[in-house]
Amino acid sequence: MANFRRFRPDDLNKLSKCNLDPFTETYELGFYLQYYAKWPSLFQVAEDDEGNIIGYIMGKLESSPDVYQFSEHYLPWHAHITAVTVAPQARRLGIGKLLTQQLEAAADANNAWFVDLFVRSTNYKAITFYKNMGYSIFRVVKDYYGDHSSDPSQSTEDAYDMRKPMKRDVKLEHIREDGEKYEVDAHDVW
Ligand SMILES: CC(C)(COP(=O)(O)OP(=O)(O)OC[C@H]1O[C@@H](n2cnc3c(N)ncnc32)[C@H](O)[C@@H]1OP(=O)(O)O)[C@@H](O)C(=O)NCCC(=O)NCCS
Repeated sequence: MANFRRFRPDDLNKLSKCNLDPFTETYELGFYLQYYAKWPSLFQVAEDDEGNIIGYIMGKLESSPDVYQFSEHYLPWHAHITAVTVAPQARRLGIGKLLTQQLEAAADANNAWFVDLFVRSTNYKAITFYKNMGYSIFRVVKDYYGDHSSDPSQSTEDAYDMRKPMKRDVKLEHIREDGEKYEVDAHDVW
């Protein structure tokens, strides 16, 4: 049985059940606190009966900086999933889906056009998870991982930028049927 609630700062020392997973990024502590301070409704955790964090989702609301408003890569107001992870022993129980649905509800409440995320092109399980939740590939960001890595020795890997339209996008103007064909350079992603 999992209990869902907003993230609290004292959860930071309880993330290891999730963060030991190789597909889960671990950030500087201040990075988590910034999300907590700015977008608390988009930072949710799932805890087990003993208070262990067995899943969390961390997201933000933003648009591209105004200076890029005439760029083809400009992103209008949207929610972004920075991290979603479920501890290996708690997977396939619907926890990831519920966390993502909570973030989508917050995105709709904030009038976002879409929810987007980056996922490694080899993270097949997560790609299936997102596709089954209604996300599709919007573009392929070449060499995103490695280029954006703190470890320069890490070999590069493409990211899929995946999107799901929110209620505001009635005409489905912000998604693509054939996003796999659109390749962008990692430097064009802000
Ligand atoms: C991706 C992840 C968050 C999914 O969490 P989860 O709680 O296990 O997912 P759910 O139980 O909510 O799954 C919902 C649906 O997604 C699909 N799905 C989830 N995991 C899957 C897998 N391993 N293989 C195939 N389909 C999968 C299924 O359709 C599933 O429904 P079903 O169980 O009724 O068939 C989890 O595997 C994880 O933490 N992975 C490591 C971190 C990661 O890759 N995060 C994403 C980075 S962008």
